[in-house]
Amino acid sequence: MTESTNPPGRSANRSPQSHRDASQTETESLELRLFLEAIYERYGYDFRDYARSSLKRRLTKCMTDAKVETISEFQARVLHSPENMEQFILAMSIDVTGLFRDPNFYAALRNKAVPVLRSLPFIRIWSAGCSTGEEVYSLAILLEEEGLYDHCRIYATDFNEVVLQKAKAGVFPMRNMKAYTASYQQAGGTRSFSEYYTAKYDNALMRTSLQKNILWAQHNLVTDASFNEFHLILCRNVMIYFNQSLSAQVHELIYESLAPGGFLGLGSSESIKFTRHESDYEVMDAKEKLFRRKDQSAG
Ligand SMILES: C[S@@+](CC[C@H](N)C(=O)[O-])C[C@H]1O[C@@H](n2cnc3c(N)ncnc32)[C@H](O)[C@@H]1O
Repeated sequence: MTESTNPPGRSANRSPQSHRDASQTETESLELRLFLEAIYERYGYDFRDYARSSLKRRLTKCMTDAKVETISEFQARVLHSPENMEQFILAMSIDVTGLFRDPNFYAALRNKAVPVLRSLPFIRIWSAGCSTGEEVYSLAILLEEEGLYDHCRIYATDFNEVVLQKAKAGVFPMRNMKAYTASYQQAGGTRSFSEYYTAKYDNALMRTSLQKNILWAQHNLVTDASFNEFHLILCRNVMIYFNQSLSAQVHELIYESLAPGGFLGLGSSESIKFTRHESDYEVMDAKEKLFRRKDQSAG
């Protein structure tokens, strides 16, 4: 028997080019792992279980902007300069959102959750991963129209301080308002949408009274614990950026944070399927991803 002279993991019939490519890929995944460990240790931000493909895309963009060739070089920049870390967090925080985004979701909320929430003396709501706040203002408007806003508190959280500051300001580009008005109407809005903002130059300033029961706070779904028990949790379009095990961990946190009988709204491509708690929820609207935690004590 002849012993192979190829290093471990190498196949004898690969071309020299494919050996080089494979070795470069291995080096890059090692560098990526070290980079994610390093920023976790240095800054406490844990991206180790974010879905690899979108993470790599964002990292490549940061590296191009920083004019560096390798992840190791970028790691050195980030470790030595918190400003570079802030840039990386911004890049990792995909903040795409909108007022009454997926209008049919809000219609489902109005028709299927509001009648139950109406019976509660006080309603605690968590918008987790709220980005620049459009989801939160949409909720506030819907609850006000349903006569529930005065006995509500909306906890609006994101791990990115920069988007939270924008959310608090409540200023959105005027050019988006036409599309938002259509979404508001499709969501079952009952008034004129322009009642909720004042136009100033190119911007729409959301009515300040919509802010009165909103509490904005920084919270990281990966590293921070549950902080209350809620009757409604929206965690929409956040877990799509996580791998399966991280999604499972965050689903656990959400389940723990939801009162029995409480509602959960997810993003259109997210699901409770294959999570440990799949059977602990009643599906209120499969298409709009609205679920309700079963109340086990109700027999
Ligand atoms: C695409 S936006 C979704 C905004 C809104 N929920 C919606 O559906 O329109 C995703 C948000 O999740 C936030 N995010 C990502 N990872 C997070 C984490 N570990 N903890 C809290 N927020 C996170 C990002 O900063 C970003 O603002």
